[in-house]
Amino acid sequence: MLKVGLVGVGGISGAHIPAWEAMEDAELTALCDIRSERMEPYPGKRHYLDFEEMLEKEELDILDICLPTYLHADYAVKAMERGIQIRKTSLRLYEPSGQYASLELG
Ligand SMILES: NC(=O)c1ccc[n+]([C@@H]2O[C@H](COP(=O)([O-])OP(=O)(O)OC[C@H]3O[C@@H](n4cnc5c(N)ncnc54)[C@H](O)[C@@H]3O)[C@@H](O)[C@H]2O)c1
Repeated sequence: MLKVGLVGVGGISGAHIPAWEAMEDAELTALCDIRSERMEPYPGKRHYLDFEEMLEKEELDILDICLPTYLHADYAVKAMERGIQIRKTSLRLYEPSGQYASLELG
């Protein structure tokens, strides 16, 4: 069983969470959001206000990033450094100039 964590429990997570729940070979075990009330509708999951704490305490196989776009790259790198797979089809890597490059993960 693959263990899944999801960070950013906002609008689009309302579509992702039921999709994870429907999977037979993956279990969504942990949620992270800086706003605790966003996680309240999901009492069966472990809740984290701090992303690093979630990575530290959970042995995740997959991280589903549902954060605002400008945070995707930093959070993905932190997770990948721990060997966690990212569930995000593309990452936009912002440059100081305001330009961005897109990294397709497949
Ligand atoms: N909403 C949609 O219909 C939709 C559709 C396609 C793609 N997306 C993409 O999904 C991503 C998220 O969009 P959304 O509409 O769900 O945004 P949202 O603002 O509704 O949700 C983002 C959540 O991230 C949380 N958050 C912000 N900073 C955080 C941090 N540092 N640590 C932990 N949590 C933090 C916020 O509290 C919020 O609950 C974006 O990249 C967006 O482009 C959204």
